[in-house]
Amino acid sequence: MKVTRATFNDVMVPNYNPAKMVPVKGEGSRVWDQDGTEYVDFAGGIAVNCLGHCHPAMVNALTEQGNKLWHLSNVFTNEPAMRLAKKLTDATFAERVYFANSGAEANEAALKLARRWALDNHGAGKDQIVAFAKGFHGRTFFTVTVGGQPAYSEGFGPKPGGIEHVEYNDLAALEAQMSEKTCAVMMEPLQGEGGVISPDLEFVKGVRALCDKYNALLIFDEVQTGFGRTGSLYAYQQLGVTPDILASAKSLGGGFPIGAMLTTAAIAEHLKPGTHGSTYGGNPLACAVAEAVFDVVNTDEVLAGVKAREELFKTKLAEINERYGIFKDIRGKGLLIGAELSDKYEGKARDFLNAGADEGVMVLVAGPSVIRFTPSLIIPEADVLEGLARFEKAIAKLVG
Ligand SMILES: Cc1ncc(COP(=O)(O)O)c(C=O)c1O
Repeated sequence: MKVTRATFNDVMVPNYNPAKMVPVKGEGSRVWDQDGTEYVDFAGGIAVNCLGHCHPAMVNALTEQGNKLWHLSNVFTNEPAMRLAKKLTDATFAERVYFANSGAEANEAALKLARRWALDNHGAGKDQIVAFAKGFHGRTFFTVTVGGQPAYSEGFGPKPGGIEHVEYNDLAALEAQMSEKTCAVMMEPLQGEGGVISPDLEFVKGVRALCDKYNALLIFDEVQTGFGRTGSLYAYQQLGVTPDILASAKSLGGGFPIGAMLTTAAIAEHLKPGTHGSTYGGNPLACAVAEAVFDVVNTDEVLAGVKAREELFKTKLAEINERYGIFKDIRGKGLLIGAELSDKYEGKARDFLNAGADEGVMVLVAGPSVIRFTPSLIIPEADVLEGLARFEKAIAKLVG
């Protein structure tokens, strides 16, 4: 059966508006479409394909597990899930892991756990969740409401309650909002979708101190920053602040859907049998692939390589900017990089994305005015240079 981009409009719910071309094959940081046109991939499936496309370690893990055991549900446990959980707990603050299928589900579990922990320990009334403007935590109704972009949560009737927002990096505003009624603060340790915005170090430390003061849990949403993307396994490891609960997804599976909520043994106790669950959470295929990703990413070589690639990206983007003057800021950490368009091009990030695709390079946006780069953590230098050369051509065409 022949399908084309036109088929999408005939058979799919129109909540997405995908690009004109239909990719059919990927290898490393290159992708090919139905017509055989080749692209350099700086989007990485929205910060997911941390080892590029079809990495042999992942293909082997998937093939091997695919010939052994596909699915059990949580009526039974399985070896890949336990091995992955052991590796995650050995490498982080966490002592317990809950597996989900996506970032939103990992965050949903984190929020439900925080509410249950507060109810068990402090009784009714300690249920306030404070989160940040421009934050993004997923699209379930709870997570999208905790997210700080009302446009995404409005238009679906009554929202879950007890949720407040303050500006990111504004400690005084957070302090004014918090009290003994605060059950948790949820934040990204670098806002991705909201525009690639780093937290001030003092702010993050202050958030931790306020959570301690008011007996509230600190939840780090590391769905986008997680798993090597900022140059450490998780971003918190470079911030000098440890959360109580951490959500991971995206790069965790390198392209196979998986999410995980990490926490301490004492907090985990509050999700007793039957309180929460998922048919597919901890699926053997997903966990086997994630374990293979873990083994490659959690090495000095790959993590140091992220920092080297960050330098290369930022240097080359600055050189492009010297020639065209289109960015007012180039920022981010590791391979979560944002280039904010200057005032003249405000609101035009999507035009640059489309122009890039026409020249054979896939980039992302983060809001209306920021171009976002989230490539494979092991993208070869030659691909970075080639992709940015193509992007410069796109810029030249667009701005003259
Ligand atoms: C920080 C953050 N949290 C949560 C999510 C939602 O993850 P998913 O789309 O896997 O549900 C995203 C997705 O972009 C994200 O960037």
